[in-house]
Amino acid sequence: MAQTDLSVELGQRRRPRQRGWSFERYQRLREEAAADPLRFWERQAMQLSWYRRWERVLDDSQAPFYRWFVGAKTNIVANALDRHLGTATQNTLALIWEGENGELRTFSYFALHREVCQFANVLKSMGVRRGDRVTIYLPRIPELPIAMLACAKIGAVHSVVYGGFSVEALHGRLEDSASRVLVTADGGYMRGKVVPLKEIADEAVARAGTVEHLVVVRRTRQEVHMEPGRDFYYDDLMVLPVTRGADGGCETEVMDAEDPLFLLYTSGTTGKPKAIVHTHGGYQVGVATTLQLCFDLRPEDRWWCAADPGWITGHSYIVYAPLILGATSVMYEGAPTYPYPDRWWRIAEKYGVTILYTAPTAIRSLMRFGDAWVTRHDLSRLRLLGSVGEPINPEAWRWYYEVVGGGRCPIIDTWWQTETGMFMIAPVPSSPLKPGSATLPLPGVTAQVVDEEGRPVPPGEEGKLVLTSPWPAMLRGLYRDPERYRQQYWSRYPGWYLTGDSARVDEDGYFWIIGRTDDVIKVSGYRLGTAEIESALVSHPAVSEAAAIGVPHEVKGHAIRCYVLLRAGVAASPELAHELADHVAREVGPIARPEVVEIVASLPKTRSGKIMRRVLKARALGQPEGDTSTLEE
Ligand code: WTA
Repeated sequence: MAQTDLSVELGQRRRPRQRGWSFERYQRLREEAAADPLRFWERQAMQLSWYRRWERVLDDSQAPFYRWFVGAKTNIVANALDRHLGTATQNTLALIWEGENGELRTFSYFALHREVCQFANVLKSMGVRRGDRVTIYLPRIPELPIAMLACAKIGAVHSVVYGGFSVEALHGRLEDSASRVLVTADGGYMRGKVVPLKEIADEAVARAGTVEHLVVVRRTRQEVHMEPGRDFYYDDLMVLPVTRGADGGCETEVMDAEDPLFLLYTSGTTGKPKAIVHTHGGYQVGVATTLQLCFDLRPEDRWWCAADPGWITGHSYIVYAPLILGATSVMYEGAPTYPYPDRWWRIAEKYGVTILYTAPTAIRSLMRFGDAWVTRHDLSRLRLLGSVGEPINPEAWRWYYEVVGGGRCPIIDTWWQTETGMFMIAPVPSSPLKPGSATLPLPGVTAQVVDEEGRPVPPGEEGKLVLTSPWPAMLRGLYRDPERYRQQYWSRYPGWYLTGDSARVDEDGYFWIIGRTDDVIKVSGYRLGTAEIESALVSHPAVSEAAAIGVPHEVKGHAIRCYVLLRAGVAASPELAHELADHVAREVGPIARPEVVEIVASLPKTRSGKIMRRVLKARALGQPEGDTSTLEE
């Protein structure tokens, strides 16, 4: 205990931080923040380093195009890496990485910084400049955060494409972002098998035509095609004299607080995924504040966010926030059940994980294997558990709490989105919990559940979840599509941000998220758009029309079910249905593979020809079809 206190004290001396909130004190903080949110966010911002202070905390004169920390100069890497140099933190482990094959790699803050500088110099030598987009398509290996940080350091904008996506998904994202450099790997490991990333990348690059160079990390070391003059191996580049820079470093680019940090494509209501834009200034304040508040990170913690860095959860809470806080993160490459269903618990035990943050779908899939896989491991160091991505059902909650957490660890259920950048509705460790509720909006965040007219609904009733004031880590727009940004998020209730979720609030003001109200499906926590799947289906020569819906699934939360109309003259067969499912997996990615493809003779449509997915869904679930007066037949 004495040792713990000492290290906390040391941590505090390095960087003053809020600690050990009682729920009463926390409620007071929420009230203070509600009375003066800008003052709250400003105080949080003051804990970070800035090259130049802001003139104003928020400029809302062009709403919904909000600007935070106006006039400030910063770079998120200055806070995530640079400021730890020369302090005790430089010798702290930033990253503990375990490969699926058991390989171990660790990086102190010092070592991570060096690696990032070198790769930043590589990018520069390839002509990447401030504002240029770089696409990163990598397995879950340390080079993924390294490449992200290297981009940020030189002011380039990274666009990470999840390694589980495939050719068409990668192609669309490369083209839309007009990336000149693609960072990828020869392959990646998943369940002991090799995913041929370079092959997929080559095909996507051939379709896109904007990419000038590919940097290829050697991971699986199998033979891959390397285009002379275009493709280079990462480790060959990292030993070139030019990458060392003048003194082994690389200058951090001084950015405007509002300069873009990254694009992250996410599924929406059209077939074309949209790129969410996040910036350096407000984002760093939002993610660092919320991680500290909700998980009360201390220097002795071992933080494990088991998400993929390719999604917002990984961007915010594997890469940026933990590094800003000087924490030690665990990262694991592969499948949770490889080679046995206790792989995660083995890792948690081995590295002394104190906080595990994951998705309900992962909990449900591990729960199926029974308690013994968990209880044979010493998980006594765990002190907090986290959940994200979808509502956590009571059974999974109880198992997570009792079996994994040994009944000691509060479950921090965090509601947020790619667009919000940071946790929005979530408890702190001292919050009284109700299983399945993300509890209350965080300080400086305002949320409401409203009816069609925008009136708050009474306690217990379902309505639309809206955010009624801006927050620093909010998206700054959709890349090169301001109109769609305004339309999609701010037009339904002027002045309020529409989340796309339905929810209810109980008598205690606790929020209960119900689910999406739009054409977004959450499959195993991954966000997919029905339109993306449908456009993959109609790209198959046998298909004339297609509709995709999400249906409840015991482990995945939702599974994808598709209905297709074939072109004239094409004969229906089980083989064809199977081939169509494969086709979606090949084009979009294995995560998008439909569970069922049903070949049908007609699709329910409105008179204007829009497919009524709502009717399909009701039929699939055996529920009443609701108002079908607009149905054509
Ligand atoms: C859902 C993931 C219930 C929600 C960070 C949201 C949740 C969508 C929770 C965003 C939660 C996320 N409880 N539902 N704790 N967290 N969601 O952009 O529907 O991949 O709108 O961001 O996930 O998904 P996204």
